[in-house]
Amino acid sequence: MRHLLDIVDLTTEEIDELLDTADDIIANPDKYRDICKYKKLATLFFEPSTRTRLSFESAMLSLGGSVLGFSEASSSSASKGESVADTIRVVSCYSDIIAMRHPKEGAPLVASMKSAVPIINAGDGGHNHPTQTLTDLLTIRREKGRLHDLTVGFCGDLKFGRTVHSLISALSRYENINIVLISPDELKLPSYIKKDVLIKNGITYEQTTDLCAVMGKLDILYMTRVQQERFFNEADYIRLKDSYILDREKMEYAKKDMCILHPLPRVNEISTEIDDDPRACYFKQVANGKNVRMALIMKLLEVQA
Ligand code: CP
Repeated sequence: MRHLLDIVDLTTEEIDELLDTADDIIANPDKYRDICKYKKLATLFFEPSTRTRLSFESAMLSLGGSVLGFSEASSSSASKGESVADTIRVVSCYSDIIAMRHPKEGAPLVASMKSAVPIINAGDGGHNHPTQTLTDLLTIRREKGRLHDLTVGFCGDLKFGRTVHSLISALSRYENINIVLISPDELKLPSYIKKDVLIKNGITYEQTTDLCAVMGKLDILYMTRVQQERFFNEADYIRLKDSYILDREKMEYAKKDMCILHPLPRVNEISTEIDDDPRACYFKQVANGKNVRMALIMKLLEVQA
């Protein structure tokens, strides 16, 4: 039985296969209509979500399966003090696969040790978000035609942004990737990721606070929201929340084929005036999320079209 807790649980060959399947799902959706008939996906969301939970549920329904679960901890017995381990033992009696989101880093790992069915990490605290990474990789590959020879800028909250951490881990395994880290000093990428991922894999990277100064070299700009829910101090959040706002003026510095990604939700960091720019790919990213989650559910349930 396989789980997906961290993007490095998948080899790059497996990722490429999942992206190939997602491309085929987009081209031939009817082929996949009933292949998870009688299978049940449980979505256990101890933290808020729009895209991840609904795309998982939509993915399973599109495969002919069924969904059950909860969208907030307060409507589950976690509110009465039940542990993650016990919750998972119970829900794995009722379902064939579980996607879970939890505010505590490592909660999906604990779940995987007690589960009788595959566990998918749908985001754990400020740690990892591997299925967002599959979404991001599919979008990059569909927009740029490759996952190698790219200069990728990450802008905003690189400290708490779990989607950033997972995508950097994934990209570091492809050829000739250059990373540009753009953030306020207080929200820099954690040192352990620089050491264990970037330096260990020989990835060239630079850090800056100045988005406009580096914009012209980027093939991909990955914008992120400042993660209010991870701050201990409201005043710090208020001070940092609008550090970067991508607008038409800043886009003047960008390549004509630069691709703008954002895991969403967006707050202020991308002006809505950018939404109609052909380089804005964040709503295509949303659509890709459902298709690559269909491919992942099939892989972990070991079903084929
Ligand atoms: N990208 C993402 O994880 O969005 P949600 O928080 O809405 O699931």
